Amino acid sequence: MSEIIRFEGVHKTFGDGPRAVHAVDDVTLTIDKGEIFGVIGYSGAGKSTLVRLINGLESVTSGRLVVDGAEVSALGEKQLRGVRADIGMIFQQFNLFPSKTVAENVAYPLRVAGWEKARRDARVAELLDFVGLADKAGARPPQLSGGQKQRVGIARALARQPKILLADEATSALDPETTRDVLALLRRVNAELGITIVVITHEMDVVKYMCERVAVMEDGKVVELGTVYDVFSRPRREVTRRFVGTSLRDRPSREVLERLAGTHPGTLVTVGIQEDTGSSARLMNSLAEHGVQGAIVYGGITEIGVRPFGSLTLALTGDGGAIRAALADLRSFTTVQEYPELTGGAPAATAHESKEQR
Ligand SMILES: Nc1ncnc2c1ncn2[C@@H]1O[C@H](COP(=O)(O)OP(=O)(O)OP(=O)(O)O)[C@@H](O)[C@H]1O
Ligand SMILES: [Mg+2]
Repeated sequence: MSEIIRFEGVHKTFGDGPRAVHAVDDVTLTIDKGEIFGVIGYSGAGKSTLVRLINGLESVTSGRLVVDGAEVSALGEKQLRGVRADIGMIFQQFNLFPSKTVAENVAYPLRVAGWEKARRDARVAELLDFVGLADKAGARPPQLSGGQKQRVGIARALARQPKILLADEATSALDPETTRDVLALLRRVNAELGITIVVITHEMDVVKYMCERVAVMEDGKVVELGTVYDVFSRPRREVTRRFVGTSLRDRPSREVLERLAGTHPGTLVTVGIQEDTGSSARLMNSLAEHGVQGAIVYGGITEIGVRPFGSLTLALTGDGGAIRAALADLRSFTTVQEYPELTGGAPAATAHESKEQR
C-alpha cells in the first residue's frame, strides 16, 4: 500500500518560553492510502492537534508533514486552503447550521466551491441516499437525532469527494447503539469509496471495531504504534494497558486482588493470553509439566478479528521451586505479572507451606 500521510519529526508548540505547550512532540508516522487509522489517548494528549495539522487547521512548528504528495509544512495559508478542500472532517458536536435544512447543510461546501444548482442538487441527493437520510432532506438539524446529525455531517464531509476523512471524536456524543451505526457507516465510506479515514477517539472499542493500525498518544508523543492487535494484546505502556482495561476489564483491581489473596491459597499471578504464542494451551501444559496447580480466579479474553487476547489471573499452588520454574517458563512466551506485596515477598514458600498444613 502506498502512503498518503507522512509525519517526520513533527512538532506543534503553542506559545513560547516556559509556558509553551508541546501539543505534538516529535511525531513520526505514516498512514497508508485506504486504511482506517486510529489515534487514541486521554484528554490533552494532542490527538486533535495532530489531525488538525493534516488539514492545515493548525500549522506545523517544525518537522515535515506530507499529505497526498503536498508538503503542507511548507505551504502558506492560501495554498493550505486548497489542501483543506480535499480533506473532509467530522466533529463530536456535528457543527451543522441549525437553521439550514439537511440538504442545504450538505450542499454548503459545494456552493462555496461554486457548483451549479442542478449539479449540486444531484450530488446532495446521492449523498443523502448513501447515508440513509433521503427522506430528511427538508428537515433541520434540531429535528434530528444525534446519529442522524452525524450522518448529515458525514454526507457534508464527503460532498467534494475527499481522499481523506478526519473523524475527531465523531461518536463521543452518541449512545452505544447509535455509535455502532455511525461507525458502520464510516466503514462503508472506507470500503465502498476507498477513502482513508483517521479516527480520533478515547474509546478502545471504537479502535477495535474500525481500525487496522493505531497510534497511542501521551503528552504530545506517539508512545505506541502498530496493528491494533499487536498494540492491545501486548501493551507496553501503562496508558495502553489502561485503555485495554476499560474495554476488557480483564485485570483485577487492587481491592479485588486483596480479596482474592484472602480467599485463595497460593501465589497470585496475571498471565497474558495471545494468539501468536498459543499461550492459553501452553500455559496449562507448562503448569502441569512442573507439577503446579493453577486455579483461574479472574480474567477476561476478547478478540480482534478472530484473534484472541486478554489475561488470566491464577492462584498457583505447589512446591515453591516448581512454581518459580513454571513462572520462568511462562515468561519465555508471554507476560507474567506477579504481586509479591500481597504475600509478604515469599509467595512460593507460603503456598508450599499452606499445602503441607492441609
Ligand atoms: N489553540 C491552542 N492554544 C494553546 N494551547 C492549545 C491550543 N490547542 C490545543 N492546545 C493545548 O495542546 C494540548 C493538546 O490539545 P489537544 O486538543 O490536541 O488534545 P486532545 O488529545 O485532542 O484532547 P481531548 O481528548 O480533550 O480532545 C493541550 O494541552 C491543549 O491545552
Ligand atoms: Mg481533541
